[in-house]
Amino acid sequence: MNAILDIKGLRKQFGGVTALSGIDLAIYEGEILGVVGPNGSGKTTLFNVVTGVHKPTAGSVTWRGRDITGIPAHEISRTGIGYTFQQAMAFAGLPVIENVRIAMEHARRPKHAVNGAFSWPTPESLLDFVGIRPLANEMAGVLPFGNLRLLGLALALASRPTLLLLDEPAAGLNDRETAALVRLVEQFPSHGISVCVIDHDMKLMQMLCKRLAVLDFGSKIADGPTNDVLHDPKVLEVYLGGEV
Ligand SMILES: Nc1ncnc2c1ncn2[C@@H]1O[C@H](COP(=O)(O)OP(=O)(O)OP(=O)(O)O)[C@@H](O)[C@H]1O
Ligand SMILES: [Mg+2]
Repeated sequence: MNAILDIKGLRKQFGGVTALSGIDLAIYEGEILGVVGPNGSGKTTLFNVVTGVHKPTAGSVTWRGRDITGIPAHEISRTGIGYTFQQAMAFAGLPVIENVRIAMEHARRPKHAVNGAFSWPTPESLLDFVGIRPLANEMAGVLPFGNLRLLGLALALASRPTLLLLDEPAAGLNDRETAALVRLVEQFPSHGISVCVIDHDMKLMQMLCKRLAVLDFGSKIADGPTNDVLHDPKVLEVYLGGEV
């Protein structure tokens, strides 16, 4: 199986801090890959380098056969790699539906589509999918936290990604909201969207991901089927006293 995203020897220094010290990681079409690791292990930096927020110090990122290393963020999103921020980014003073409409209008052109038709041709259909259509006319700024997260997902989907990177999508959500998020994200692959998700919630990761990669101090220390990884002695050591 060929990787859609192929990360090789990725390294990122911030001054004297080595955030990533030579990461190899492949993401395959149609999968939901989990990335876990302690605070400060480099997970967010990995996403930031892939999405062009930061330029890597060394190494390469290949997307569907094209070298995208160091390309600026706005160009990366046009290639079909989407990203949700920990803070949902929406125009607070505009209705929910307008936020989605604007995001769809700014999406990359359909000719860039890789996997055929886009599942959600209208802002309404996208709001239906994420479950907040009844809130279409509310101002984004007054949405409760959980619904703002769902709007963040709708905005990310509006950019027509074929790979979506989710950084701690369940942080701050209650159990009911987390379960709803899992049911939603599980459907992404059947809409032509592969997923790479970072989260500290191992129960969530076990539900969502068949494969996990584990980072520790900027290095990948494990990568494989979720259950194998969670029983790997190196991983248990990192999480000693933790919930794994
Ligand atoms: N913009 C930056 N400037 C300087 N140092 C940074 C920057 N971004 C990250 N770092 C450092 O890089 C290391 C990795 O940080 P990163 O945010 O990638 O970790 P993380 O695994 O996402 O952690 P968390 O689980 O807490 O979100 C940390 O030591 C962090 O302080
Ligand atoms: Mg992080």
